Amino acid sequence: MKTIELANYGPVIPVIVIDNVEDAVPMAEALLEGGIRVLEVTLRSNCALQAIEAIAKNVPEAIVGAGTLRTKADATNAKIAGSQFAVSPGYSSNMGSICKEIDLPLLPGVSSGSEIMMANDDGYDFLKLFPAVAVGGVNLLKGFSGPFADVKFCPTGGVTIQNASDFLALPNVIVCGGTWLTPKEYVNQKNWAKITQLAKEASSIKF
Ligand code: 3PG
Repeated sequence: MKTIELANYGPVIPVIVIDNVEDAVPMAEALLEGGIRVLEVTLRSNCALQAIEAIAKNVPEAIVGAGTLRTKADATNAKIAGSQFAVSPGYSSNMGSICKEIDLPLLPGVSSGSEIMMANDDGYDFLKLFPAVAVGGVNLLKGFSGPFADVKFCPTGGVTIQNASDFLALPNVIVCGGTWLTPKEYVNQKNWAKITQLAKEASSIKF
């Protein structure tokens, strides 16, 4: 699989933090019911790897990946847990090489022209813009479209249901991501119906 194919399944990839492993499967099922198949489970909690493993085993229709990869160990652990892809908040050639070595498709994060050039040098041309709104949002992506016309982006960081369509309308944006589909409040209440509703809204964004 190539990470660019993740955009074929819908306009939004939820960026998920799972604090209790028992929430992983019902949350994935709730998102699927709302039309979201691609799930990025971030390595920001102790049970993230177990959550990825649980989703990979029990929710076969989901395409589950690991987010927040920062080290080689993150990459190997993500692969062993069953991640089909990985996302990193920034880019380093080390991260690029380990992911290639272990055959883990990587969506690397960038926030500047120099980082885009480093990722491109290593063969990555579908990139996460992070933190999208803080570094310039829609205007920055418009700026990148000149010199980096062949590069496609997944903006995340400050993207919400309110501004997602502005990002998705840009020719160099093919999908976007964010945490707004799985708010802690609803997860703690195990309000899966609400998460399905947020997923439905996100998967049917018009742009
Ligand atoms: C990410 O890793 O992509 C961000 O944490 C998403 O940030 P958000 O909470 O602004 O969506």
